[in-house]
Amino acid sequence: MLIDLTQAEIVELHQRATEAAHNSYSPYSRFRVGAAILLHPDAIQPGAVVAGTNVENASYRLTSCAEQAAIAAAITLYGPAIRIRAVAVVNLNGAACMPCGACRQTILEFATPETAIFYPSATGEVVSTTLAALLPAAFRLELD
Ligand code: THU
Repeated sequence: MLIDLTQAEIVELHQRATEAAHNSYSPYSRFRVGAAILLHPDAIQPGAVVAGTNVENASYRLTSCAEQAAIAAAITLYGPAIRIRAVAVVNLNGAACMPCGACRQTILEFATPETAIFYPSATGEVVSTTLAALLPAAFRLELD
């Protein structure tokens, strides 16, 4: 099975993402998002969980998503060799919140073929899927 996290790991990811969402800077959308990433057991800092929240900007286009913030925080803490085992996205608005296209590509940079993604559906259920399912035919830079 691709998504073989323990229930404890899934719960911790959601708790950390929810904590981060409480720090959201989102005066424009008022959509408070949190993300937490679980670092891969075969790479640096196995099992560590790092969270991030969305940080908006008056220009709108400079907004940083929660997933992007979590990845930047993980690299700041542990360096460029991190690999992502799983990502959980939550929001405090009770809305659906799947990672945006840009975040899918950002997660891919540090993903493995099994990277799991958890996000809330419109009904509030947690959807568990993989990055590969959310981002088929992804761009990869392959120069010769
Ligand atoms: N947002 C995230 O942080 N992550 C997502 O997966 C979707 C959207 C943020 C960006 C913006 O601050 C607000 O949610 C509304 O789009």
